[in-house]
Amino acid sequence: MARRIVIIIYTLAIFFNAFGIYGKVYTRCGLVKELLNMDFSRSFIGNWVCLIESESGKNTSSIKYKANRSQGLGIFQIRSKDWCTFHRKGGICNVRCEDMLDENITDDATCAQKFGFRAWDGWKRNCKGRKLPLPLC
Ligand SMILES: *[C@@H]1O[C@H](CO)[C@@H](O)[C@H](O)[C@H]1NC(C)=O
Ligand SMILES: *[C@@H]1O[C@H](CO)[C@@H](O)[C@H](O)[C@H]1NC(C)=O
Ligand SMILES: *[C@@H]1O[C@H](CO)[C@@H](O)[C@H](O)[C@H]1NC(C)=O
Repeated sequence: MARRIVIIIYTLAIFFNAFGIYGKVYTRCGLVKELLNMDFSRSFIGNWVCLIESESGKNTSSIKYKANRSQGLGIFQIRSKDWCTFHRKGGICNVRCEDMLDENITDDATCAQKFGFRAWDGWKRNCKGRKLPLPLC
């Protein structure tokens, strides 16, 4: 019974996600506030904001299909290939990939902070070597 309810909830979540109803798109200032709340170091927030804008457009339900059947998931584009696993906790971050698509970005942030900025192509392409101060809000 409980299992059936979980399956129904997932189906609904995937359905709503497909139509962009579920999930949230941060504003730049909303994102800065959230990152500060989660104790990200002020000196690196400019880089995190640039990374997030470049990778997901600040969209918590962003899904991008990558090479080798990997997917980038959520605001930080967590990698389904090895950073998380579907249906159960796992991967380098020991999280469920599905949880990287909801509006709660606390677990996503904990995962992302395990890696250096160089792990993201979007950061290398658009943020590396740039002066990125804390955005003014
Ligand atoms: C956020 O990403 C989801 C999944 O890729 C997409 O369906 C939705 O349209 C996006 N939202 C915005 C505002 O771009
Ligand atoms: C895809 O996998 C192949 C073989 O495992 C590897 O050589 C290649 O670098 C991978 N490509 C990417 C973009 O990760
Ligand atoms: C977000 O998720 C974390 C665990 O990953 C939990 O501790 C926290 O209460 C959640 N926040 C909200 C607003 O639900």
